[in-house]
Amino acid sequence: MNDRFNDDKNSAMFTRPMTRRVFIGGAMRSLLSLSLAGILSPIKKIFASPAIDARYIRQIVSDDDTTGRTIMWHSSGHSSALHLDWREPDAKREHRVDATDDYFVDDGESVFIHSSYIKGLKPGHTYEYAISTEGGKSPWYTFRTDDGQSMKAIILSDSQCADDYATWSRTVSDAVKYMPDADALMVLGDLVDNGEDSYQWRRWFDMLTGIAERMTLVPVMGNHECYDIHWGNRIPAAYLNFFDVPGNGSTRFPRYYYSFDYGPIHFVVLNNCFEELDALRGGLLAEEMEWLRADLDETQQKWRVVLMHRDIIDYDASPLKIESFAKKFAPIFEEGHVDIVIAAHIHSYRRRPRLKNFHRNKAGIIYINDGIAGDQHLVPPLFPWDEVTAPKPETTNYMTLEATMDALHFQCVVPGKGVVDDFTVKK
Ligand SMILES: [Fe+2]
Ligand SMILES: [Fe+2]
Repeated sequence: MNDRFNDDKNSAMFTRPMTRRVFIGGAMRSLLSLSLAGILSPIKKIFASPAIDARYIRQIVSDDDTTGRTIMWHSSGHSSALHLDWREPDAKREHRVDATDDYFVDDGESVFIHSSYIKGLKPGHTYEYAISTEGGKSPWYTFRTDDGQSMKAIILSDSQCADDYATWSRTVSDAVKYMPDADALMVLGDLVDNGEDSYQWRRWFDMLTGIAERMTLVPVMGNHECYDIHWGNRIPAAYLNFFDVPGNGSTRFPRYYYSFDYGPIHFVVLNNCFEELDALRGGLLAEEMEWLRADLDETQQKWRVVLMHRDIIDYDASPLKIESFAKKFAPIFEEGHVDIVIAAHIHSYRRRPRLKNFHRNKAGIIYINDGIAGDQHLVPPLFPWDEVTAPKPETTNYMTLEATMDALHFQCVVPGKGVVDDFTVKK
């Protein structure tokens, strides 16, 4: 069994406040269990589906996506025969790798979770995978390994919703329709509105059915992942368990931050939830700064892109000001030749000029704030650097990235309105 992240404060004997949604959800669950136990059992026997016990099947970014891929999924219980099978498309010869069989308790529920790593693949090749349990085998899903030369990504943020994640579903579906061949689906934090609410996580994953099986998920931790059901702060147990992202060598903050290569880019995923985490587990900023310096120093990739949740500007402050963590990270970004920093959190698309030491400079870094993929609209005022933004009132939007050795091409797309920003970076 793998190490799973349990938040002791919240994992045992937790009593959840009875909201309308919780009440209806509970009533439906009771009805369903009654139905399955009694009324529906004869029907179930006749129409029994061969579907196996695996849901939220997803690709997760791994240490090396040119030769491997991490696949994860949920189930409703332990299994004695869990595997992942993979093959070249339609090939007769299949390969088999083991899967973990873990569970953790959160929001008063046991979550059974499985993870498998396929390795030894060829770069730039298409493969298929299927989940195998004692109950049978899932359909075959397709994935393509990174060729190390080019890549395409959809970048979404703040998918948190209060409408059962219908808005998230519409935004991500529009994005996938716009860029159906994206390699990666990056979500820059505040995936859910409440990081302990298991119902919200289920809805979030539900809306990725048919997408996460074939696109690599790149998650970033946001402040809302760190909220408990009473809106206090907590160690984000659900987030940490749901995404087996690449290791960062940390024993104190594993999976909180990480880096990986895809195509010609070295991506760094930073964690800047200091406000939520510092009192629970201190030392994140200092550890991360040291790691970041070494990480950027080591990479040979032509392009360097940083993804993080909180923006460099504190829009809650009056007057608006640059965040103190941004002042600490910026010199390391500059020394490490970072090209672009993409943040989120303010629920509004903003593109700034190139900045060096937070002054306009043609040799500086481009700071962007990705917009909003959920329904929580709270558009802050414009900062003088916010030279490009989405049309107001701002509706959901997302970014796309097409990367080659020569250029990074970004767009900001507003569903129903089309492309509202389009720029290319060369060096
Ligand atoms: Fe947010
Ligand atoms: Fe946020």
